[in-house]
Amino acid sequence: MHQALYRIWRPGIFDDVVGQEHITTTLKNEIAAGRPAHAYLFIGSRGTGKTTCARIVAKAVNCLDAQNGNPCGQCEMCRGIDNGSLVDVVEIDAASNNGVDNIRDLREEANFLPNAAKYRVYIIDEVHMLSVSAFNALLKILEEPPSHVLFVLATTEVHKVPATILSRCQRFDFRRIDSGVIAGRLQQVAEGEGFRLDEDAAMLIARMADGGMRDALSIMDLCSSYNRDITVDTVSQATGLVAQDYLFKLAEAAHARNTGEFLELVGQAGQSYVEYDRLCEQLIGHYRNLMVAKSSKKPEDLIVCLPEVLEQYKEQARRFPVAEILQTLTILQETLGAMTRTTYRRTELEMAAVRICELRGQTAAAEIADTSMLEGRLAALEQRLVSGAAVAAKPVQQEVKAPAAPPKAEPAPKPAAAADAAVTPFAEWPQVLTVLSKTNIPLSGFLVSSRAYFQGNRVLIDCRNSMFLDLVRNNQKAKDDLKKAIAQVTGQNYGIGPYNGGAAAEENTQEPTNPVDALLSNAKAAGIPIEVK
Ligand SMILES: Nc1ncnc2c1ncn2[C@@H]1O[C@H](COP(=O)(O)OP(=O)(O)O)[C@@H](O)[C@H]1O
Ligand SMILES: [Mg+2]
Ligand SMILES: [Zn+2]
Repeated sequence: MHQALYRIWRPGIFDDVVGQEHITTTLKNEIAAGRPAHAYLFIGSRGTGKTTCARIVAKAVNCLDAQNGNPCGQCEMCRGIDNGSLVDVVEIDAASNNGVDNIRDLREEANFLPNAAKYRVYIIDEVHMLSVSAFNALLKILEEPPSHVLFVLATTEVHKVPATILSRCQRFDFRRIDSGVIAGRLQQVAEGEGFRLDEDAAMLIARMADGGMRDALSIMDLCSSYNRDITVDTVSQATGLVAQDYLFKLAEAAHARNTGEFLELVGQAGQSYVEYDRLCEQLIGHYRNLMVAKSSKKPEDLIVCLPEVLEQYKEQARRFPVAEILQTLTILQETLGAMTRTTYRRTELEMAAVRICELRGQTAAAEIADTSMLEGRLAALEQRLVSGAAVAAKPVQQEVKAPAAPPKAEPAPKPAAAADAAVTPFAEWPQVLTVLSKTNIPLSGFLVSSRAYFQGNRVLIDCRNSMFLDLVRNNQKAKDDLKKAIAQVTGQNYGIGPYNGGAAAEENTQEPTNPVDALLSNAKAAGIPIEVK
């Protein structure tokens, strides 16, 4: 049977424990001087070496041939502890033995001299899981420990350990291990196992493990089952990551509003058996990284990737407006949610692609508004003219038809003639949101990734967030703030109302001619409700 790498490669002496020198040096010194504490408390996140060090302590204090505080690993004590046959060393998992009875038994037993070893060592893992009465029982022994007893308590959640216990222990904080240090240890293990491990691959695994050696070894274990020659590609493959290049390309297509390219890339992913929800998650991760690269002073602390990839993030983030990144994230998150409720995951992702590619034009305008309100207003007016022209040129995609739309037989429908029925896109809507983000933050939050349309002297708002409608219905201030923001951007007073699209999709019976139309008709065939806007 395959034995997990992290078990095979558990360090047997302090000198093989990496990244925790501040702890291992002190322990070695105390043990070499023959003065170990009665109780140690090891704190730290999982896979950083707590259990490992606890076992080394147990061996080192009992070893018949210790060297500078390190156990020899060969004597009968060391071997007895390694194979679990030495009854004087007891490991208790407090997660499953958390009752007072367990600790009372321990207390009785602790009074007896050890069987064969010098010290009875009790290793209590996940000690924060003990019940209150068990803690009290434990405290009694810690208050007057027999000289032949040594405790090593370990926990990931020190705040759940009573202060009375803490004050009786010598405390050590295990750090998350530096990526470079993890990568070095991975190389050592790879060599021992006869794998070839690329430096880049080691670094990538280390970063994914986020400071935990155990996770790093598990990831490498998984990779080696794919290929004993481990490259960055192997890591991507084994962990189900699509290549980072691919995510950059997707984001680039979205930024260029190239829906066709985006959909093609999604299609490619499908051919290589990538799961669409996984892809969506990774795309969320990508935009999250862009956001971090844009806003954090030290993005390298928050982004798991290679240094050259970090540069790529920074470069892409520089070119992408914040609003575009945030709105894309919102859409992707909605999409991921929707994916849990449908089997048509691909279609969900494709619809997201269309929405994201549409965003770009809006956010560009929002960015302008951000820099200068007045300039922005002019630009927006211009843009409205431009998009008005676009409506005339490409009615099927851009135009939203009012319920009373022309009959189906008519080939290229023109914008409806009746003024009060015509609905046109409100191109400068993102600027309204920018104004609102200063005057009414909650309202602007609900409106993220909403759209709006003009109809006569009203602005119709299409917002998927139901809290928005509640707020506008029941809160006069919200209504006023919204109207004021619209007036500020357009220079005109409008009434507001909800937009209820959808009818338009029903009426589009034309043969699909481009990827977007093909997608829309697929979605319709799959029974997924969508709206053409
Ligand atoms: N500091 C470390 N140096 C070397 N290997 C480590 C270190 N920390 C953890 N490991 C590896 O991870 C495995 C699990 O570590 P363990 O000590 O059980 O972690 P925990 O802190 O969760 O108790 C070990 O068997 C070992 O292979
Ligand atoms: Mg442990
Ligand atoms: Zn020994």
